[in-house]
Amino acid sequence: MLLERYLERIGSEAIQRALDLDGPRPALVRPTTDPKFGDFQINGAMKLGKELGKPPRELAQPIAEALGGIDAIERAEVAGPGFVNIHLSHAWIASRLTEALRDDVHDGVPRVERPETIVVDFSSPNIAKQMHVGHLRSTIIGDAIARILDSVGHEVIRDNHLGDWGTQFGLLIVGMREWGSEDALQADPIAELERVYKLASERAGKDEAFADLARAELAKLQSGDVENRKLWEHFVEVSRTALDAVYDELEVSFDEWLGESAYHDALPGVVETLLAKGIAREDDGAVCIFWGEVEDAPKSLRKQKTPFIVQKKDGAFLYSTTDIATVLYRKEQLGADRALYVVDNRQGLHFQQLFAAMKLLDVDMTLEHVGFGTVLGRDGKPLRTRDASGHVITLASLLAESKERARARIEEGIAEGRLRVRPEEIENVSSVVGIGAVKYADLRQNRLSDYQFDWDKMISFQGNAGPYLQYAYARCASIFAKGGLDMDATARTATITLEAPAEVTLGKHMLRFADVVHQAAATSQPHLVCEHIYELARAFNGFYAECPVLDAEGPTRDSRLGLTALTARQIRRGLGLVGIGVVDRM
Ligand code: ARG
Repeated sequence: MLLERYLERIGSEAIQRALDLDGPRPALVRPTTDPKFGDFQINGAMKLGKELGKPPRELAQPIAEALGGIDAIERAEVAGPGFVNIHLSHAWIASRLTEALRDDVHDGVPRVERPETIVVDFSSPNIAKQMHVGHLRSTIIGDAIARILDSVGHEVIRDNHLGDWGTQFGLLIVGMREWGSEDALQADPIAELERVYKLASERAGKDEAFADLARAELAKLQSGDVENRKLWEHFVEVSRTALDAVYDELEVSFDEWLGESAYHDALPGVVETLLAKGIAREDDGAVCIFWGEVEDAPKSLRKQKTPFIVQKKDGAFLYSTTDIATVLYRKEQLGADRALYVVDNRQGLHFQQLFAAMKLLDVDMTLEHVGFGTVLGRDGKPLRTRDASGHVITLASLLAESKERARARIEEGIAEGRLRVRPEEIENVSSVVGIGAVKYADLRQNRLSDYQFDWDKMISFQGNAGPYLQYAYARCASIFAKGGLDMDATARTATITLEAPAEVTLGKHMLRFADVVHQAAATSQPHLVCEHIYELARAFNGFYAECPVLDAEGPTRDSRLGLTALTARQIRRGLGLVGIGVVDRM
């Protein structure tokens, strides 16, 4: 159940009853700043004071009394100028937890009342180029957001909007003719395409005739020339193979692969419409939206000097044009209510302009730029994607390194008797731990901030790191293994009660899980789920240190097994929501 929503409802009903009002008023429930004041506070009386012209403290007293009679509430008391502090009943919390324990489908996380169709546009690399560390963020943040939205009942469409139609293809076509090697292309396609692209773009910078040739080939490609089309298909295919290898490793998948090329035919229509509606105009042969001239342009863009160009002088369409066509497609063909663009902060201005253009076109759809910061190296500068000798650090090699490092730590742990991984499981555990560590290091951060890439902190069984959480899960699982018990069977029968302080702390924390997941879904912030799981692992360790589980007896043992099972379930589900796996033994 959603705790805060429930408290808000009973709070506002209590206010109506206590003050004999014509209808409910907002209770304005907030968690307290300090647990010594209780679990939540109700601030509604403060606001009502103005409405009713009475001192809030006077109103708060009957509200507190009305709340005192409710099952969920142990005690409600007036504080300060008119807050009502509430202490939840332990017995009530325990029954909610037992309910969650029985729910083996959703672990107590309810569905949203109004499911939407949401496109998550993520990863979306430019093909014929190496995916590098920078692409990692969009891929794993986008995947986590998609999983979270899906888990609360939205219809999610994962779309990989590949950059597969830009100017690079003209350069690649002439470049491959000039310098390309079919053998190299077979052996390491992306590296060969990158090598040739580099040569071609350097040449185009100095040699106007060469640049013209590249533009002509691009135009031929875009107007359907058979030979160029074949070359392009070949580039796309080899790129897809390389991308798929990385996505497989990360266990990330897509429902659609509608790259820029998919919208080619729609582009002239987009420009026509913009012109016909007076949103864009011609300027020296190009077609642009001038924000200073458009009547309904948002304030924030009014002073934007450079226009939003949708067609160049030579007739070519741009990133902006494809993106407009893409929104229309998502709205009309996919029936989307919302689209999330999981793209680097640096593209903020592009999306601001895109969304403003869609509004001018009267497209009724929620569009959000889900931005993120930069990955930094240990020196605090953007992580270099080349090593000291100039080799590109690819995403594939980074993931391989993470698994290697995880394996080293695991073997060390086994040698020191801290870990109990069987020899035949080392391979799999290293992979789950290594990939999980990379993902968690990224996802635990507020996505808007930059973060520092640090192998040692990332692959740690102690701090706020993926392996620590996976270890906490394995520890829960090992309690069942040791007792010869089945975790799922226990979850079906155990009854949770909360007595020892460490049980109460753990129980209260777990009660918030559904709220956290819903908040993460509503704000596209996977780090909220990570934070919850980290605090959960700590609360569980506190509980485990103080409260014997297998050695307890009767209902206490039953309840503690229940708490352990629910902890394990929340860790597993929480990590699963951010695309991270667990293992039973570690
Ligand atoms: N291909 C772009 C890039 O790598 C990202 C595309 C994001 N999605 C979009 N619809 N613009 O910068």
